[in-house]
Order: sequence, then structure tokens, then C-alpha cells
Amino acid sequence: MKSSLAQAHSWVSLLQHYDCIKKQHMRDLFVTDPKRFDKFSLIFSNILFDFSKNRLTEETLKLLLDLAHERELQQGISRMFAGEPINNTENRPVLHVALRNRANRSIMVKGKDVMPQVNAVLERMRKFCDKVHGGQWRGFSGERLTDIVNIGIGGSDLGPAMVTEALQPYAKSGFRVHFVSNVDGTQLAETLKTIRPETALFVISSKTFTTQETLTNAHSARNWFLRAAPDDKAIAKHFVAVSTNRSEVERFGIDPCNMFEFWDWVGGRYSLWSAIGLSIALYLGMENFEQLLEGAYEMDNHFRETPLRQNIPVIAALVGIWNINFLGAQSHAVLPYDQYLERFPAYLQQLEMESNGKHVTRGGASVNYATGNVIWGAPGTNGQHAFFQLLHQGTPLITADFLAPIESHNPMGEHHQILLSNFFAQTEALMKGKSEAEVRTELEKANLAEGEVELLIPHKLFEGNRPSNSFLFSKLTPWTLGALIAFYEHKVFTQGLIWDINSFDQWGVELGKQLAKKILPELQDTEEVNSHDSSTNGLINYYKYIHPS
Ligand code: F6P
Repeated sequence: MKSSLAQAHSWVSLLQHYDCIKKQHMRDLFVTDPKRFDKFSLIFSNILFDFSKNRLTEETLKLLLDLAHERELQQGISRMFAGEPINNTENRPVLHVALRNRANRSIMVKGKDVMPQVNAVLERMRKFCDKVHGGQWRGFSGERLTDIVNIGIGGSDLGPAMVTEALQPYAKSGFRVHFVSNVDGTQLAETLKTIRPETALFVISSKTFTTQETLTNAHSARNWFLRAAPDDKAIAKHFVAVSTNRSEVERFGIDPCNMFEFWDWVGGRYSLWSAIGLSIALYLGMENFEQLLEGAYEMDNHFRETPLRQNIPVIAALVGIWNINFLGAQSHAVLPYDQYLERFPAYLQQLEMESNGKHVTRGGASVNYATGNVIWGAPGTNGQHAFFQLLHQGTPLITADFLAPIESHNPMGEHHQILLSNFFAQTEALMKGKSEAEVRTELEKANLAEGEVELLIPHKLFEGNRPSNSFLFSKLTPWTLGALIAFYEHKVFTQGLIWDINSFDQWGVELGKQLAKKILPELQDTEEVNSHDSSTNGLINYYKYIHPS
């Protein structure tokens, strides 16, 4: 039986160690050790992971690795890959790794190998994509289908939306993809303005097929479609479903023959590898979808087999724990220096925050340490001209991941070198900062009026010592993106295991859903509402009186 985290021997040692090194500046760590980059960077295939710009030493890393051993990380990894029900509040295995198990090794759930069903769904996806791409599957008017509209939310939207945006250079020619997630009718209305019913293929993606936003959007899309279609039968050509819930799919009116199945052992935010990836496969082709799976599979093998000191997701997770639990970082920026990765921060937001935003241990005890932090970000260099000021000189400690491809899909003059020079400069500036002496020398050269130098020094000072990780990969290919996503999944898993929380449930999203269900009927009559607190009553009544029903 593991002791509680705060009592773990290695945790206590890390606290003592932090006290000893907290005053050290990274600038000095780099000066005293010219080999720091070599020691604190790792390579996996074409991906370089540099974590040397963190406030840590060999001793820190040794203690963090002791922590991983003490928390039985390797046993935890084996349990996940073996299909044990590690999602203990829902009594389910967590097997997104089975969806990209390219070696096809048996993975047993309740005594049954899941691989035959995984392979069968992949095969159905391939056949369907081939028919749509080849023009054998056509719309009611006989035209080819060209516009894929994914209707889903959360994990049934963010993964496919991010991947299709990231891999646009690999898109099948003649196809467009659209994503509708928000129940705000604006998103659907604006999407419908850009497509025609004759050439639209709606992919209704929902693990449960009961999600209010998705079902509302799906019904409205169907109504719009039926206004143009000759009859109900046309639905079969233009609507397919991706779900674990056959009966609800049928109830909606989609023929189960047009349903692509997945299983309750696939978590929503881990589901892009399943049939939830159908929109990806339709837009990029099945061969590119499979390359995505291959990249993730290689990262799975790396995570499972590589000793912890060389294990990229494990080291990234431990560095994150060091920053969160010992340095006190509460916010982490994801900064892709690649426009194609614009949606990567939003994707990671769900992956990390829905997984590790937990306040109790797996056993239900309140945690007395920080768990998942705030994830956000935007592509460089746009972020530099918006929020980087706070990263450099603000009061909270914000850590960051910088990511960039070495080769651009769109080489154009000096663009890529300018982009990368900014990436490298930002990580250097965050680490090094600018000392008072440096600022003074610079200002004294500028012939300023008396007093101005002293006035400006504090404003132009950068304390530096702000941690960041850097990722460089050769090119943003389907394989590399698959590996990067799997890297983050395993980082999240490792942190959740060390914090002793369940990274695979999401009870925190339920309360708001329950209350919204109660409020909806209250918005639909003219009665004054007084069943809530005065603020909620006030808001509802203000809405009702200016919107007579
Ligand atoms: O927001 C909660 C959540 O359950 C997510 O975890 C999930 O990805 C999303 O809703 C969508 O759920 P579904 O795929 O069942 O529609």
C-alpha cells in the first residue's frame, strides 16, 4: 500500500532539496555546466525534447525519479497497458493504447481480446472513406460528397478539429471539413451558410449520444437537410454516427449500418484514435490516419519500455510536478511556433485539465498538494505581441512548452528562420533575463537625461529564471503529430498516477449540466423564477422580461 504523497520519503527529500536550491539562478547553472543541454535533453525519433531550461539539477532529477519509483510508476504503466480497470470511479479500463496497438498484441478486457473489434472498425472506416473518396458513396442528388461536418463537443470535437487543422497539407483534394460543437446556434448557422445539403456528409460524434449540445445541433442540421432532401431516406446517405450507444443512435434516426462503434474503455478526451477519428480519416485519407496511429504507437512503446531517466513523457511529467508542487507554478502555456498547431493548446486544455483537475485522491481523500494546473496558449509569434509581457515580467510563475518544426510546410523567404529565431530568443530571455548591470550599461550608452536611467532600470529589468521546455521536430507529419499527442497523454497519466488521482473520470462537469437541465424549462414560460439564489433568479428574470416568450 502506497503512503500518501506528502508523506512519501522522496517527496520530503524533494522539499528539503528545494530549500537548498531555490535561490539558484538557471543562468548560473548554464555557466557552471557547459554540458547542461546534453544532460537535460532527450531525443525520440525526430523529436528533440530540451528540458534544460528548468530550475533543476542532477540531484533534483534523481529525487524526482525516486518519487516515480516510490509511487510505483512502472507498475502503473503496466496496469494501463494490461487493460486493468484503472478508472476506478467508473470501473473501466483505459485503453486508448489498444486503438493504436499496431503490433496487434492481444489486450484482454473481461476475458476477451479487444483487438478483433478494434481492427474491424478500422476496416469499416477504411471502406467507408474509400467509397466517399472514390465517389461510390454519393448524396441524394447523385453528386459526390465534399463537405464533412463533424457535430460533437469536447473529446468528440477537439481532437479531430485540432488534427485536421494541423495536417491540412495532407488533406484529400476536393474535400472540406467543418466542426460544429457549440450549442450557440451561430456556429451551426454560419457553417450551413457555407455548404449545400446535396454534398454534405454529417458525422454525428458522441460517445454517449446523449450530450445536449450535440443532439441539439444534430437535430437542427437534420431539419435543415430535410428541407432540401426529397424524403427521409436521404438521411442514410448524408448522416453517419460515431458512438458507443447503438440504441440512442437508432432513436435519432441513423441506421446502425451507418454507425461506427467504439467502447466505454475509450475516454472522450482520449478518443481521436477511435472511430471519433472518422472525420480525420475522411479529410486526410485513411493512410494518413493510420500514420497518426503509428506515431502514437511508437510513443506508447517508448513510454512502456524506456528506462525512466530516458523516458520523454515521464521526464516531462516529473519536471511538471517539480514546477507545480515545489516551485508553485499554477499556469502552463503551450506555445506552438507553427500556425498549423493553432488549436493544439485548446486540445491540450481538455486533455490536461479534464484529466488532472481533481481535488481528491483515487480513494476519495482530499489532496493536500496541488494537482493539474491551468493550460492555455496561442501560436508564436502572435502570443509574443499579446501576453508574453506577463510571462517575462508578471508576478505569477508561468511555465511553458515551446514547439516548432525544423522544416516548414510552406517555405517562403526568411519566414521560417525569423519564426525560429523568435522561438529560441524567447526561451533564452525567459531563462536568462537581463540583470541590473546589463540594463544600466545599455541605458548609459543611450545618453538619457539625468534621473531617467534610475527611473527606467526597474522597468527594463528581467529577473529571468522562468522555466520552459522546448520541442523541435523535423516536420509536422501525421506520424509526428500522433507521437506528440501520445506524449502529452502519457505525461498526463504519469502526473495523475504520482498525484494519486483518477485522470480518467470527469465528474466536475456534471453539476453545471444538471442545473442547466433544471433551468431550461424555467426559461420557457412567463412565470417569475424564485427557486434559486438572488443572483441566479435575477439573471433569469432579467432575461425573461426583456425576451417575452
Ligand atoms: O464535457 C464532458 C464530456 O463528457 C467530455 O469528457 C466528453 O468529451 C464530452 O463531454 C462529449 O461527450 P460525448 O462524446 O458523449 O458527446
